[in-house]
Amino acid sequence: MFQQTLSLSFLLSSFILISTLSWVSAADSNVVYVQCSQLNFTSNTPYESNVNSLLTSLIASASLYNFNKFQISPQDCVIYGLFQCRGDVTSPNCKDCVANAISQLKTTCPMSTGGQIQLEGCFVKYDNTTFFGAQEKTELSKRCGPAMGYNSDVSNRIDVALANLVGGNGQYFRDSDYGSIQGVAQCLQDLSLSDCQDCLLEASGRLRSECATSTWGEMYLGKCNIRYADMGNGNLGNNGTSSSNKSNGGGAKTPWEWIITGATALAALLSAGGVHLYHKSSKTTTTTTNTTNHGTLP
Ligand SMILES: *[C@@H]1O[C@H](CO)[C@@H](O)[C@H](O)[C@H]1NC(C)=O
Ligand SMILES: *[C@@H]1O[C@H](CO)[C@@H](O)[C@H](O)[C@H]1NC(C)=O
Ligand SMILES: *[C@@H]1O[C@H](CO)[C@@H](O)[C@H](O)[C@H]1NC(C)=O
Ligand SMILES: *[C@@H]1O[C@H](CO)[C@@H](O)[C@H](O)[C@H]1NC(C)=O
Ligand SMILES: *[C@@H]1O[C@H](CO)[C@@H](O)[C@H](O)[C@H]1NC(C)=O
Repeated sequence: MFQQTLSLSFLLSSFILISTLSWVSAADSNVVYVQCSQLNFTSNTPYESNVNSLLTSLIASASLYNFNKFQISPQDCVIYGLFQCRGDVTSPNCKDCVANAISQLKTTCPMSTGGQIQLEGCFVKYDNTTFFGAQEKTELSKRCGPAMGYNSDVSNRIDVALANLVGGNGQYFRDSDYGSIQGVAQCLQDLSLSDCQDCLLEASGRLRSECATSTWGEMYLGKCNIRYADMGNGNLGNNGTSSSNKSNGGGAKTPWEWIITGATALAALLSAGGVHLYHKSSKTTTTTTNTTNHGTLP
């Protein structure tokens, strides 16, 4: 009976995996940007083991929290690191995203003294100088959707949606629907809420000027990001049932709509088969970690 349940859930998760793999990997695991330090550490040094132990700690912690920061310092070289999952990403998906991010970061820059990577669903950064709590508004990535042509209705709705995000709930993660416009914003939780606000204000201003005529847009600064998308089919002020299919085609999913769908399927998949696997890998966490703060989400 138990075995039957197991194999059924295995079949089910295999099915979900096969039917969703293409867009799961095209969504949460999508790299928005990756940056590595020029300097490399040397193999088989405390630096290397500190980096490894830090990254392992981040993955382990991501199964419990949406954000956490660590500082590893058994030897003279201190390594600082943190992860941040988007506020609507659930724990199993957060862990999966962070593990994926770290694997891609290690592939891209295996020996770098520091680096950062942003996937659609999560962010990871480590370095040997502290960056915790520091404001950082450098533009790291920007993407603008196709132009919609002049449409003051949609344009006004985008303005309102972004203003709602900036003025919104005062939290690290914010989402907002305004008419056909969906918006999402996320700050790294090592910032104070007032620095979060300051960062989002800057991000929103840049997004609006740099993606001025776009049906969707995304702006990633060092410590925050903000995005919007017009979900109206023809975005022409009729009830969204228009049959127009310009550019991406009517009803095309925006980048993060795919993510949310993907995350849901991935959750099913992980709860079916991933738990045991994780339990094994979490035992490799070293005891040298020094948790400085648990950033629990509400
Ligand atoms: C660091 O390593 C990468 C390859 O992993 C190499 O391309 C790069 O040149 C190295 N940087 C320095 C400063 O040696
Ligand atoms: C960080 O690592 C680089 C390369 O090993 C080193 O030159 C630099 O002094 C380190 N910085 C700190 C604050 O330890
Ligand atoms: C909008 O929707 C309403 C109710 O569904 C319908 O009566 C009306 O004709 C629609 N208008 C347009 C422009 O499609
Ligand atoms: C919608 O897409 C189809 C197939 O790509 C195309 O033939 C048709 O002309 C498009 N319609 C509009 C209104 O753009
Ligand atoms: C973490 O490190 C700081 C300074 O490096 C130390 O004072 C503190 O006791 C450590 N905490 C733990 C839990 O090891």
